[in-house]
Amino acid sequence: MKRKILVTSALPYANGQIHIGHLVEYIQTDIWVRFQKMMGNDCHYMCADDTHGTPVMVTARKQGVSPEELIEKMNEEHRRDFGDFHIEFDNYYTTNSPENREFAEYIYMKLKEGGHIVEKEIEQFYCEKDRMFLPDRFIKGKCPRCGAPDQYGDSCELCSSTYSPVDIGEPFCSICRSVPVRKTSVHYFFRLKNFTERLKEWLDKDRVQPEVRRKLDEWFQEGLRDWDISRDAPYFGFKIPDTEDKFFYVWLDAPIGYMASTANWCARSGRSFDEFWRDEDTEIYHFIGKDIMYFHCLFWPAMLMGAGFRTPTRICIHGFLTVNGEKMSKSRGTFINARKYLEHLDPQYLRYYYACKLGSGVSDVDLSIDDFISRVNSDMVGKIANLASRVGPMLKKKMDGKTGSIPEDAVSLIEDARNKNIVIADLYEQREFSRAVKEICQIADEANRYLEKKEPWVTVKTDAEKTRQTITAALEIFRLLTIYLKPVLPQFASDAEKFLKIEPLAWADIERSIVDHEIGDFKHLIQRVDPAKVNAMIDESRE
Ligand code: MSP
Ligand code: ZN
Repeated sequence: MKRKILVTSALPYANGQIHIGHLVEYIQTDIWVRFQKMMGNDCHYMCADDTHGTPVMVTARKQGVSPEELIEKMNEEHRRDFGDFHIEFDNYYTTNSPENREFAEYIYMKLKEGGHIVEKEIEQFYCEKDRMFLPDRFIKGKCPRCGAPDQYGDSCELCSSTYSPVDIGEPFCSICRSVPVRKTSVHYFFRLKNFTERLKEWLDKDRVQPEVRRKLDEWFQEGLRDWDISRDAPYFGFKIPDTEDKFFYVWLDAPIGYMASTANWCARSGRSFDEFWRDEDTEIYHFIGKDIMYFHCLFWPAMLMGAGFRTPTRICIHGFLTVNGEKMSKSRGTFINARKYLEHLDPQYLRYYYACKLGSGVSDVDLSIDDFISRVNSDMVGKIANLASRVGPMLKKKMDGKTGSIPEDAVSLIEDARNKNIVIADLYEQREFSRAVKEICQIADEANRYLEKKEPWVTVKTDAEKTRQTITAALEIFRLLTIYLKPVLPQFASDAEKFLKIEPLAWADIERSIVDHEIGDFKHLIQRVDPAKVNAMIDESRE
């Protein structure tokens, strides 16, 4: 039966550029979505820019533009970066939209009516020069633990302790360096603990990976605390209804952006919003990084419950990117922006490499530069693309580009490759991409061994018909490999479809075959990675 699935990736901050760390998430989600679409499921991928909050406001001020101008420009950049990495959203929207305002107000009113919003007076740092309350990240001072100077208001980069900004020594405003004062104001809080039991019941139905569940249980044990959902003016965001100068905190309207993006897409494509956000038969999958678990596994489902919407089917949490075993670093040149990567390398390399490394767990993903070069060159180019380039040109030049029948000695080889589709589909479904790629490479190994044994480049001189059969077998396996890899390498697949002169491949095309068929002109499918280009990219990323 056709499944109806709504998929999201976290909404990237409009304040910064997309980098290869982000891409772990967007490539992973895109692979899963493409797989679902190939299976014929009614699957849709929604995303947007996360546009509100103090950092956007401050960056815009510094650049002398309005926040709206800044987020507009970033939205264009983000779209282009994702598109160039072959990440294909059904809708890429913005949280600064009329739909999002409407949903944010609606959800807030529902929570308020349900008695889940409380008011409390709190004290915060305020910069009289900038005339604004300072979020933790905008206060700097001496670490209360180790005394290191110039540390952020929430944590120390030297001793990595975390603390409250009121405990920091000699605080100053990170924008203008003046000494902030303390000022009180009324804030609105969401009573998360009202949802403790319902959240536990929801989580009991296999919503997150087991290691995530353990972490959530620790949080439950500590007791769920009230969440401050308001910010004082000036703030770039949505004003809270019935207030003069209170705004929704960016993290309140950010996840609601998933809904707003869906509504915006529904209006365009004639689909119904309720079919996705009220109907329990639809599946909702959120892909996110481990740093934003609390928001997605606790606040977000509680907000949905409180407002009468359905809750997500699954939250798929991934780890962080490390490069050569260490955090991405500007000084080492491993903090690589998407655009910088594209100036030097083919996006397909990174898609393939991440697929080689991704599993369903939460552990970090390491991009080892040497491993990256060797996996791409020896497996993707050497084993898979080569299968076509070893026989395609020969068939075209010497045998009119026409395939024949499958030879007796390749029947079981092809059947095995075909039968693996069940295992491979299951691995994709479970987000075990690295294991799927391993299966695919094994098929390619077998096919290459077969070619080595049959030596079509030798037999072509003496027995054209036998050679045609050998090549037909190789191309049949190559066609299957193309199907299996298509979620990871859509561009490669589309080039291969042109070369084989076949219609765009879906998963069900596994059952078809390439016998007695005329192929197209051979075009080189993929270049080897040039290590010099990798080095240039790293050099240019170094600060
Ligand atoms: N704006 C919030 C998300 C709001 S969702 C309602 C945010 N934005 S982000 O730009 O910082 O991150 C977007 C996604 O990319 C997050 O899921 C985050 O975990 C992921 N990653 C950001 N840096 C990453 C790495 N270095 N490695 C892997 N994933 C990373 O959070
Ligand atoms: Zn200031």
